[in-house]
Amino acid sequence: LSKIEVKLSDIPEGKNMTFKWRGKPLFVRHRTEKEIAAEESVDLSELRDPQHDKDRVSNPTWIIVIGVCTHLGCVPIANAGDYGGYYCPCHGSHYDASGRIRKGPAPLNLEVPYYEFPDEETVIVG
Ligand code: FES
Repeated sequence: LSKIEVKLSDIPEGKNMTFKWRGKPLFVRHRTEKEIAAEESVDLSELRDPQHDKDRVSNPTWIIVIGVCTHLGCVPIANAGDYGGYYCPCHGSHYDASGRIRKGPAPLNLEVPYYEFPDEETVIVG
């Protein structure tokens, strides 16, 4: 399937759910107010792959990324690591709750796929 529809009400606040899309893991995470505030205030000069949180989301409540580590392609673990986002156990890459690389060998942020919200309950990725 080239597109996947996700029902957002199935994902509680603070949780990440993993779906399979185009043969890859897709992470959809319902961020807390605290996480949103923290990610929006990150100083871009601290980032290896500088990108503002606003440029990675269309609704700040939801971060939607491809669950493939940009180092060598392992699947990171959600809600883990030093930055509370994702942690890749293969060689120790830490991503924040915007999916941006913060520490470890990965060179780039987790990829944000194309998606849209047809209504408040639904996201369609692809
Ligand atoms: Fe993720 Fe190497 S594949 S840190």
